[in-house]
Amino acid sequence: MYVIGGTASKTTAEDLSKKQQIPLARLISKRFPDGELYIRILDDISGEDVIIIQTTYPDPNIVELFLLQDAVKEAGAKKITVIIPYLGYSRQDKKFEKGEPISAKVIAALISLNADEVITIDPHKEHILDFFSIPAFSCSAVPELAEFLKKKDVDLVLAPDKGALDRAKQASTIIGCDFDYMEKIRIDGTTVEIKPKNLNAQDKNVAIIDDIISTGGTMAKSIAELKKHGAKKIFVACTHGLFAGGAVKKLVSAGCNEIISTDTIVSEFSKVKISPCILQLLLSKRV
Ligand code: R5P
Repeated sequence: MYVIGGTASKTTAEDLSKKQQIPLARLISKRFPDGELYIRILDDISGEDVIIIQTTYPDPNIVELFLLQDAVKEAGAKKITVIIPYLGYSRQDKKFEKGEPISAKVIAALISLNADEVITIDPHKEHILDFFSIPAFSCSAVPELAEFLKKKDVDLVLAPDKGALDRAKQASTIIGCDFDYMEKIRIDGTTVEIKPKNLNAQDKNVAIIDDIISTGGTMAKSIAELKKHGAKKIFVACTHGLFAGGAVKKLVSAGCNEIISTDTIVSEFSKVKISPCILQLLLSKRV
């Protein structure tokens, strides 16, 4: 058995390799002068089970995954497990307007071409797994995020919208505190409104938890609402920290005390590792 880590998910591949004592396949990866990617697997993986780990964001990492999958297939691997810590394009999981593609479906179909099974972490919606034509599984980083938040004396976990309510509830159970949710109205890709609501947040340390922070708009509006309600410390936590554009500045100026994300997308805020939840899923599948 071998583990292969793509550029976007090298540390997770190293974590899994160390924890399970599975060798990391040696790779050559370089760019041609025109920017196209060249990869080559140096180890003999013929007849082996191979785990490829690669987040499919931003776009160049999708191409890298396709090339890795093909190289593994061409090398004669027995079974290919693709682990995608963050599955890009998952928010376009349906046609919102006439004439649009179902982007999540396209990406899933292409990944399915050269893989036997796929695992992803906190997909934006669970039904995305049905777009794969191979067995597809997901696991959640919420327990790991909650364990991290436990050390922060959190009194309340808040979901920034109803869609994130289950995550907030699960985290609050692990932390041993209350949970609540906000009512979000999305105006467009970068603008959201949060409906005013009675929240019991006075003098409380509050953690807002979501699957994705992209522009930071959702979190910033939630922070502002919490400030109005007299919250003490405000933590924002997510599985996938995209931090697009000025997201971090937006969160800090809104009054956030700490930003926490996992390493599905590696950044300075990746304080929580996802390798434990992947490992748990891999081990449970083998029973
Ligand atoms: C939306 O349904 C997601 O769960 C996130 O709330 C959203 O993607 C966050 O986006 P942004 O940071 O741009 O507000």
